[in-house]
Formats: sequence, C-alpha cells, structure tokens
Amino acid sequence: MSNDEKTIQPLRAPLAGSTRVPGDKSISHRAVLFSAMAEGTSRVFGVLDSEDVRASIRAVQALGARVSLEKQLDGSLAGGITGWGGRGPQQPEEPIDCGNSGTTARLLMGIIAPWDIRVTLTGDESLCRRPMRRIAAPLMKMGVRFEPDGQETLPMTVVGNPRLEAISYEAPMASAQLKTAVILAGAYAQGTTVLREPAPSRNHTELMLPEYGVETVAGECTASVTGPHVLQASEVQVPGDPSSAAFLACAALMKPGSAVQIEDVSLNRARTGWVEVLERMGADVSTQVTGHSGKEPYGILSARYTESLRGCDVPARKIASMVDEIPVLSLLAAHARGVTVFRDVSELRVKETDRLAAIIDGLTALGISAWTHGDDLFIEGQPGFEAPEGIAFDSLGDHRLAMTWALVGLTGSVPVTVRRFGSVAVSYPRFLEDMEGLVR
Ligand code: S3P
Repeated sequence: MSNDEKTIQPLRAPLAGSTRVPGDKSISHRAVLFSAMAEGTSRVFGVLDSEDVRASIRAVQALGARVSLEKQLDGSLAGGITGWGGRGPQQPEEPIDCGNSGTTARLLMGIIAPWDIRVTLTGDESLCRRPMRRIAAPLMKMGVRFEPDGQETLPMTVVGNPRLEAISYEAPMASAQLKTAVILAGAYAQGTTVLREPAPSRNHTELMLPEYGVETVAGECTASVTGPHVLQASEVQVPGDPSSAAFLACAALMKPGSAVQIEDVSLNRARTGWVEVLERMGADVSTQVTGHSGKEPYGILSARYTESLRGCDVPARKIASMVDEIPVLSLLAAHARGVTVFRDVSELRVKETDRLAAIIDGLTALGISAWTHGDDLFIEGQPGFEAPEGIAFDSLGDHRLAMTWALVGLTGSVPVTVRRFGSVAVSYPRFLEDMEGLVR
C-alpha cells in the first residue's frame, strides 16, 4: 500500500471542453480473462492500463495464456491474447498475487473451477481482508474445493474439478463478481446454471460471453448459461470507464463556470445509476448513446456546473448500479440542499476499505453531518460550505476515496492533503492529468 501524500491545489479556472477517460476497468478485466480462457488469439483494444488490470494480466500469464499487449499513445493497452482454450490453464508454480483487485481474485475462482489444477490466490492487505466465502459457497455446490476448509479470506487454495455440476443459486447480495464467477464456472458444467440476485448488478459478463461464443440468458435479476462450452477467440474494444468519468462530471458540477463532455464512455445502464441520481438532484447532466462496442452502449456524457442541487432518496434496488460512485456522490450530496439518503449500502463496508465509515469520517472533518441508520447512509447538505484550512484526508489506500477527497481540493478554495494518494493507480493513474487537461 502506498504511503505517499499529495497536496491538491484548487483548480486555477473552471473545467471546460471534451475529453475521454481510460478504458472501463470491469470490461478490461473481462476482456483479459475471457481471452485467456478462449481457444485462439483474441484482439483487445482500449484496455485500461492500471494496477488492477495488470493483476489480471499477470494472473493469466501464470496460468499459461500468452499476452502481447502494447502501450498505445492514448495510454491504453492493445494487442493479442492467446488463450488456453480446450487444453485448460497450466498449473502455476507459485501462488497468484491479485494485488488490490477483488475482480481478479473472485473471477479467477470461477475460471479455475472446472480444471484439474490447484491454485493459491492471495493479495495485498486490503484484499486479504475482503469476504471470499460469497464466491466459494456456490462454487462448492458445483463441486469445487477450497483450502483451508472454512476459510473466509485470501490466501485460499482453489482445487478445481473437471466434473462440475450445474446449479441454480439464489445470491444473497447483488454482486457482479459473484454472478460472473458462477456463470464462468457454469459455462463448463453439464446443464444449465442459473443465478438469481436481489437487485440487478452490472451485466458485462452476460453481454460479453456471447462474443466469445457462449450464449447467456439474462433477465433483470437473473443470468444463466448452459454448458459445457469452450470460449472462442474474439475481438473487444473497451469503452471509457463511467466510474472514472463520474469524478470529472462531479468536479464540473462543483466548480463554478464548468462544462465538460466525456466522449466514448460506457453508457451501460447497469453502470450509470449515478447519472440518474445527479438528475434527481437537479444537476445539469445528460447522456447520448453514439454507438455500441459488441453489446455495450457508449456515448457522450455532459455535465455543467449547477448552482443549486437538492438532496434525494436513493432506493436499495438502485445501489448496485452506482456502487463505486457512492463516495463521490456523497461529496456532491454535501453541497446539496436537504438530506440525501442512500438505502442499504452495507456492501460499502466490504470494498477496498470500509467506505461507509470513511465517507462519514471525511464528511465530518468537513463539518458536514453524515450518519448511518442501520445500513442506510444519510448526508445533510450545506450548500456553499468551505473546507477548513490545512485539512488532510487519508485515502486508506482506496483509489475511489483518494479521488473523492482530491475533488475537495480541486473544486474548493483551499489546498487539501490526501494521504496514500498513489492508490489512484488502481483504476485511474492519469486522474490528475486528465483533470488539469480540462482547465481552460
Ligand atoms: C465489479 C463489481 C463490483 C464493483 C467492482 C467491480 C466487477 O463489485 O464494486 O469495482 O467488475 O464485476 P461487487 O461484485 O462486489 O459488487
């Protein structure tokens, strides 16, 4: 975990003009992982170059995929990935270190599941605290073993089983990582595997697997696949990451005089719940779909400074569609008139850090009232509030918190310090440069 500290100075001028954001993290992971599973050589473009995605690349190399991605002028990775196809992954010599990446660790569990190998997965301090039982439980029903017995967290050894059984599984929480692990294992099991979830989570796996020759059936809260299958090589162009775009858009909404457009960004509705919240808060934001990459819609997202925002009540069912944006939405809620409520955000407690506690601590340091009642988060806005001089935040090594607290400095009038700022490299290494590139 990085211990670096950064002083963030207020932006000299409003944000204005058009930009792009780096490739979507969720889609990049899947492009790398699915290509590694496939027979033949896939071509991938616009892949996010960040620490998390590099963890997936290193993992599939250890499992025998050949990856030849090169850095492009726009900072993305592009090139070929030759997968293990029907031969299956090789037995790695050492444990696979997934770094900070929950997506890498959890999706790998489903990927290793149908093969006769045993793979130990580990990660950094944060990842080794995060719950893994939620993935192990359904995979055990399919015939996978996990060692040590009853282990809740990494390091854990996945003992694959070439005779997986299809299951019908009721997920206890809306999690795309859980859904994906089960569907990926299900693609290799005999019969139909069905997963039901309590609210719709992001659907990139269901949209992308057919591109690799594996039909999926997706409903609002269900996904299913009928196996066995071997994925076939494909071509993927990764659109921009709406979760990164959220920081630029929210900065524009908070910095007077700003108006920005973000082009070629994913506008998948399972990811843009935060835009709907901004609309409900009265923010001047809009989206326009301009094309599709495979089945993923992308387009232009526009945001313009809005003087008076109002609080709103966000229902539990919508939380999964904005789960990574709640820190930055909470900061925006601090600028709004009235109380904003996010219903049932218990999942925030088990992200890279306890984001619920961190949001409350950070907002409290800013003099904003924020509290929980059960699993609901309440924020009482104070339009026009100013950060106290000399304020320092700790990202706790969490990339989304580092960027959220940086926005306090960028869009306000006093510099702020963000400890462990280097964690932005997990999802958006060029965050500050992109922000400064919009200052006119
Ligand atoms: C992700 C799913 C979400 C999200 C994470 C990426 C994915 O996690 O928070 O950043 O790529 O599937 P959960 O599945 O735990 O909700």
